[in-house]
Amino acid sequence: MTLPTLRIGALVLATPVVAAPVAGFTDAIFRDLVRRFGGCGLIFTEMISAGAWVEAKTLPDRLRGVESEARPLGVQLWDRAPDLIAEAAARLSVMRVSVIDLNFGCPKRRIMGKHAAGATLLRDPATIGRLVAAAVRGAGNIPVSAKIRLGPSFAARTAVEVARAAEANGAQAITVHGRTADQHYGVPCQLEMIAEVVRAVSIPVIANGDVHDAASALQTLRATGAAGVMVAREALVRPWVFREITAALHGEPVPSAPTLAEQRAMLLMHHGAMVARDGDRHGTIMMRKFASRYLSGIPGARPFRDAITRAGDTADFHAIVERFVPEEGREEPRVRDLRALFTP
Ligand SMILES: Cc1cc2nc3c(=O)[nH]c(=O)nc-3n(C[C@H](O)[C@H](O)[C@H](O)COP(=O)(O)O)c2cc1C
Repeated sequence: MTLPTLRIGALVLATPVVAAPVAGFTDAIFRDLVRRFGGCGLIFTEMISAGAWVEAKTLPDRLRGVESEARPLGVQLWDRAPDLIAEAAARLSVMRVSVIDLNFGCPKRRIMGKHAAGATLLRDPATIGRLVAAAVRGAGNIPVSAKIRLGPSFAARTAVEVARAAEANGAQAITVHGRTADQHYGVPCQLEMIAEVVRAVSIPVIANGDVHDAASALQTLRATGAAGVMVAREALVRPWVFREITAALHGEPVPSAPTLAEQRAMLLMHHGAMVARDGDRHGTIMMRKFASRYLSGIPGARPFRDAITRAGDTADFHAIVERFVPEEGREEPRVRDLRALFTP
């Protein structure tokens, strides 16, 4: 399979493999980790409330450091008010982010219900069109994209109409998660419906859902005709998955996973960066959710997970890592490039 080129407006990605916005996870430290492993063409922030940002007049924590962060970087906004989206997009264009994405896929009750945003908006392609137009107006020459599910419910699979409305109002790319909001994660992705969206628009479509390795990425690209793939949950477990997919797209052998020693180093460095940012106790608590995903598939991972989700500070954290993943003799792990990972 030849490597497709993924262009989002004037932005040409080095590889059509994209790291998804994942609230609670894809913060600056995690984005840095993913970039260091390589193979990822574009990475997104967590979703950011345009309204909360504009009305509070302070920079959300989720945007701290974004101005000086490596590019390309996509920032995702959510809201249902065009003025707030336009203002937030204008602020992001001053920060020179690479892509501004709008969230029309979040199935959470708080976002769909209380805020009538996220995937609720899939009921209403015209409103989505107005929100995209507002973002485009605010964004100046920064490209705007939209991230959608197949519809708000299986009975209302509106993805094609929504994608057409987004395109007609200036979106430069669309990411489609191949499930409806009411399906949450309960059924396999419906790739044929992503393919329908691909056929319905002329802007690039990024296929999303259940991509967890090189084979599933190739299969998703083949089955949908999409211009790229986006990975969310697997990146939280194996942040090196992007280099595997990119290698396969180039027809190269899939690189081996980091050794256990490298994964241990990654874990300790990730924790160190969290503590440097958030303090010993809070940083350790925030690290639990990452640590409990890493090392899965390795013998002893389950008791490690159980223990690490109770770590309260650095001493605890290090003791648990030492107990389950002791440092290997004097073997020189291939972590030289990872050593610089989390140095603040
Ligand atoms: C914990 C969690 C948080 C998420 N946060 C966001 C988000 O902030 N914005 C968004 O568009 N999608 C979000 N998603 C959805 C993912 O980006 C992605 O569309 C979905 O998980 C399907 O991809 P996957 O099969 O690769 O995980 C989130 C998913 C999870 C599991």
